[in-house]
Amino acid sequence: MTTLDLVTHSPDGESRGLAFRVGDIFPMDPNLDLASEIDARATEARPWGLRFLVPSRGTGTGYTAAVLSVLVGAANVTSVEVDADVAARAVANLAAAGFDPLVVVGDGTDGHAGRAPYDRVHATCAVARVPYAWVEQTRPGGVIVAPWQPIPGYGWRLRLTCLGSRAIGRFHGTAGYMMSRGQRDVGRWNPHHYADASTTWTRLDPRTVGRAGPGFVLTVLGRCPGLGMFSMENDDGSFSLLMFERGAPDGSWASCDWEPGGTDYEVVQYGDRSLWDEVAGAFGWWVRHDRPDVDRFGLTVTPDGERLWLDEPVRGL
Ligand SMILES: C[S@@+](CC[C@H](N)C(=O)[O-])C[C@H]1O[C@@H](n2cnc3c(N)ncnc32)[C@H](O)[C@@H]1O
Repeated sequence: MTTLDLVTHSPDGESRGLAFRVGDIFPMDPNLDLASEIDARATEARPWGLRFLVPSRGTGTGYTAAVLSVLVGAANVTSVEVDADVAARAVANLAAAGFDPLVVVGDGTDGHAGRAPYDRVHATCAVARVPYAWVEQTRPGGVIVAPWQPIPGYGWRLRLTCLGSRAIGRFHGTAGYMMSRGQRDVGRWNPHHYADASTTWTRLDPRTVGRAGPGFVLTVLGRCPGLGMFSMENDDGSFSLLMFERGAPDGSWASCDWEPGGTDYEVVQYGDRSLWDEVAGAFGWWVRHDRPDVDRFGLTVTPDGERLWLDEPVRGL
């Protein structure tokens, strides 16, 4: 029996190894059965079953490139891996399994213009924003599938259709992937200037807001630009919702704390923006729109950037 090493990088850059047999189906996510996913409906966020040029971003072990080679032929697969050692290992794995797709060492967020236009782009590392190069390099009518993780701790599966200078599509559930190299933001909540912060009280339970789910987080992303947010369940039973301006260590921040037995909850806010007020406003908007779940949201990508929408591309948040 032939065994191959499966080696990829953990999010902190360390390598891990696994062995598998040629012919094994090895889902990246142990909860997913790749074999059954191959027949998934075309509307789902899956690139499978497509017959044209399929580039894959994040070659890793070569496993995905091998699966795509089976599906569309190795000559139609281009795979981009940023790490030269990982790429070399993937080429060896692929050769041992009998596949020779083009493996390029480079930054997958630049795409690979040399073989454009592509019919399908399939990313197996997450992006904080969709690289416009992917839109430029995809044929009109072509599809981009990627894990979209614009803020630490949250991610969504995104399927876009390219329409010339723009790409439009919906979210299909959540995702939790290794971030693209160069887009790794650990996202810190830094309660600086505490003495200058203001304290108020609210009856809106921060647990209701913090646990509202991924559809609500998309609302926050669309209505509160640049805002990061995370929840803390504390050992003493208390709960804190923490908000901050992403990429601005001296920027605005806010916290809202729930204590067992309390009926009003303390809100502390610092800076030019009142981040709790923004999040509470976004929560009201989300409730007024019937608490939309992830599948009602979509994204449009243009040369000017990304724009979230609800239900249809003309309906912004
Ligand atoms: C989860 S693994 C992908 C696994 C891969 N699909 C497989 O079959 O093994 C993510 C890979 O993406 C690579 N990567 C991260 N950022 C990248 C980037 N900007 N461009 C290309 N590859 C990247 C990492 O080095 C890692 O090998």
